[in-house]
Amino acid sequence: MKIAIGNDHPAVEMKQLLVAYLQEQGHDIVNVGTDTEDAVDYPVFAKKVANKVLSKEVDFGILICGTGIGISIAANKIKGIRCALCSEPFSAKLTKEHNDSNIIAIGTRAIGIGMAKAIVDAYMSAEFLGGQHKVRIDMITDLEE
Ligand code: RB5
Repeated sequence: MKIAIGNDHPAVEMKQLLVAYLQEQGHDIVNVGTDTEDAVDYPVFAKKVANKVLSKEVDFGILICGTGIGISIAANKIKGIRCALCSEPFSAKLTKEHNDSNIIAIGTRAIGIGMAKAIVDAYMSAEFLGGQHKVRIDMITDLEE
């Protein structure tokens, strides 16, 4: 898969570990930064990843900040983005199956790298189920207007 990944300053190490993990599996990673621990503003990176998802340059996006909350709120302000903050794999699987989420968000201060890998694995192994879930997503899309 082709995956965009972006993060703010607390999340550099987790991002690097996840990038290495995903590259080992043969995935193509587009890293939009940040790559230093100099303070940055997470909405900038939410927008960069969202744009790559919306242009279909990538299959989906991963966003990481301290809690995962700010960066997911920012991403969800962008039309067409359904970003799910996940702290365990069950939600990651279900958000793909039911919400067809196109970005998953992770909080580096909330969970460890093992859980982060399990979340990404669960999301990537799942398929959108369609049917009534599609109807509900269309209702969410209507809320954007
Ligand atoms: C940055 O200090 C921190 O606020 C950010 O990483 C995130 O936790 C916000 O939701």
